[in-house]
Amino acid sequence: MPESTETPQSLAELAADGERTGGVPIELIDVVKRFSGTKGAAVDDLTMTIPAGEIVVLLGPSGCGKTTTMRMINRLIEPTSGRILIGGLDARAQKPDELRRHIGYVIQQAGLFPHLTVGSNIAQVPQMLGWEKDRISARVDELLELVGLAPDEFRDRYPRQLSGGQQQRVGVARALAADPPVMLMDEPFGALDPITRENLQDELLRLQDELSKTIVFVTHDVDEALKLGDRIAILGTGSKIVQYATAEEILTNPADSYVEQFIGGESAMKLLKLTRVSDVALEQAVRATEADSAADVRRKLEEAESDWVIVLDAQDRPLRWESLADLEGATGTIGDLTAGEDDLFDTVISGRATLQEAVEALLNAEAEVVPVVGRRRRYVGAVTLSTVQQAIAEIKERERRQRKQRAAEAQPGVAV
Ligand SMILES: Nc1ncnc2c1ncn2[C@@H]1O[C@H](COP(=O)(O)OP(=O)(O)O)[C@@H](O)[C@H]1O
Ligand SMILES: [Mg+2]
Repeated sequence: MPESTETPQSLAELAADGERTGGVPIELIDVVKRFSGTKGAAVDDLTMTIPAGEIVVLLGPSGCGKTTTMRMINRLIEPTSGRILIGGLDARAQKPDELRRHIGYVIQQAGLFPHLTVGSNIAQVPQMLGWEKDRISARVDELLELVGLAPDEFRDRYPRQLSGGQQQRVGVARALAADPPVMLMDEPFGALDPITRENLQDELLRLQDELSKTIVFVTHDVDEALKLGDRIAILGTGSKIVQYATAEEILTNPADSYVEQFIGGESAMKLLKLTRVSDVALEQAVRATEADSAADVRRKLEEAESDWVIVLDAQDRPLRWESLADLEGATGTIGDLTAGEDDLFDTVISGRATLQEAVEALLNAEAEVVPVVGRRRRYVGAVTLSTVQQAIAEIKERERRQRKQRAAEAQPGVAV
């Protein structure tokens, strides 16, 4: 083990520094790649910073230079000129094969060795790093768990005995084997059916919540980019950056017509897909329990100028709505009221749902308002179509303010 007081000289030392390795930043500085015998550069003077612990998506049409860019980071391709710093260290100063042991790499169709078992595939890098046998097998099982595959069931299978989605999970496990600070993912889910693809995207986000790696993710799929990217670099020919920004910013303020065309229409619908119900200001309905007196609740409703009360059980889980009309003249408790026809609901949505799912729930439930639940189905608020509309308006307004501020910072002295 290296002395922790010394500045790490290699990614290996950097990765061995902590118990668990978070991400490190990657900097590309004036990077050019010309393949011999070709006109024009595949990567034409690219400068970009990829912050530590973020998922940065390279999004661009086929042939624009995404794969070349990515493969220069782990030195599968050598740049013609320019510099690449990983965690502040010059990639050229590292031995390529050592560098690659500390940069996870996931490609389409996983690229697993067909003649090796799942376990042996995952164990490749730890074996090269000379880990003890016991440590390797413990790590293999831990990683299989992490990517949602039961170790006993999958460790001894061969890749051909797995579905495409399962192979891709193994590919991710293999890339994470030596706990690298950086993961490069080149269209990893491109060959999967839409449902499996969505599942693996969700899994990747869940994993990233836990691991905080620096992930460079290449795709030409706009929806995938918007969903996964903390930041998205939209690239043109020669990996020219046309816009490098958050999904929200790209949707609300595309840099030019190329970006507009690339992301396609329906930007408001796309914002709905990006935004979680828990991220927006919810309606706060008047609450009651079965034991509350109807008269008290009626007074509360009148004070709140509201027509509906949500009835919760002892664990704050929503049971039903009662209307002001139902409470009219009632003398006993809320529990004494006979259920009216529109009181019961079977639709509640989770705070983790997207606004798009909320709109779907509202339209399908034919309800004007749907309760939102958090952990253990506890009621946290309610959502209506106007909640959603408001949220989108606020996102647009926030982006507009930030744009103004950035413009002001770029041009000091100019009043905006
Ligand atoms: N080994 C190579 N030799 C010559 N040209 C190449 C080589 N690899 C890629 N290219 C060219 O470089 C450009 C960028 O390719 P690539 O990085 O694979 O694009 P993307 O991943 O965005 O589809 C393309 O025009 C491609 O034909
Ligand atoms: Mg490619």
